[in-house]
Amino acid sequence: MNEAATAAARALLARALRVVVFTGAGVSAESGVPAFRGAGGLWKTFRPEDLATPVAFGRDPRLVWEWYAWRREMVARCRPNPAHLALARWITGRAGVTLVSQNVDDLHERAAREVAADAEAQRAAPIKLHGSLFHDHCTRCRHRVEAGPVDASSVPGLPHCPLCGGLMRPGVVWFGEMLPVRAVEAALAAAADAEACLVVGTRGAVYPAAGVVHTAKAAGARVAVVDPGETEFDDLADVKLVGPAGEIVPQIVG
Ligand code: OAD
Repeated sequence: MNEAATAAARALLARALRVVVFTGAGVSAESGVPAFRGAGGLWKTFRPEDLATPVAFGRDPRLVWEWYAWRREMVARCRPNPAHLALARWITGRAGVTLVSQNVDDLHERAAREVAADAEAQRAAPIKLHGSLFHDHCTRCRHRVEAGPVDASSVPGLPHCPLCGGLMRPGVVWFGEMLPVRAVEAALAAAADAEACLVVGTRGAVYPAAGVVHTAKAAGARVAVVDPGETEFDDLADVKLVGPAGEIVPQIVG
C-alpha cells in the first residue's frame, strides 16, 4: 500500500510549481532528538508549565536554563538524518519550495550546510516558527546572541546580556507567547500560494503553527503526510505515508 502512496506523493510534489514543507519533531526522531508527545516524548517526563512558559522562567530561571542547556547539549551531539539531507538536497536543487519548521534543533540548517555551498544552503534554511535552541536573547533589551556554554548551577552563573547586563533567556517560543510575526507571515504566505504541501513528523496539535497546513489545504494545495502514527492532518491528507521520515522522505523527494 505504501508503494502506491509513495508514487502518489512523488507525483503530487513533482507536479507542483510551489510547495510548502512543514516539519515537526518526528523529522528529527531518527537523529535521536526526542519528540514531545507520545511514548518517550519530552512532555511525558517533564511538565511544560514548569519549564516552557514565561511564568516558569520568572519563578525559577536556573531550573529552566538547566533544562535548555541539557537539551542543547543533547541536540548538538545529534546529526541530520536521511530525511533532513534529502529535503536539503531537494530544496537546493529545485525552485519553489519553502521549508517551514516547528523544530528548534537546527538540524535542517546543518543538513543544508552539509549538502550545499553557503549561498544555496541559505535557500534551504527553514522558516522557524518556534525559534532555536542555539540563540539566546536578553529579557530586558532583547539583544540576540549565538548560544554559548551555560553554567546553570546558580543564578549568577546564568548567561547575562553583553550590552545591558540583563538576564538572557533561550531563544525559543514558550507556551503562551506570540510566535515571531515575520516568520508566521512568511509561512502563511507560502502556504496560501502552494500547490502542494508535504507534512513530516508532526502531530499537528499546536497552533498557530498547525494553521500552515490548513491554510495550504484551504487554498487548494494537495497534502501529503509522512508519519508513523496518527496525526491531526490525516483527515485532510490526500496521501498518507505511514512510516519513519528517514526511510520515506528520501523516496518521495529523491
Ligand atoms: P509531537 O511530539 O507532537 O509529534 C511528533 C510526531 O512525530 C508524531 O506524530 C509522531 O508520530 C511522529 N514521529 C515519531 N517518529 C517519527 C519518525 N521517525 N518519522 C516521522 N515522524 C515521526 O511534535 P510536534 O508536532 O513537532 O513547541 O510538536 C509541536 C510543538 O509542540 C513543538 O514545536 C513544541 C511542542 O510543545 C514549542 O516548543 C513551542
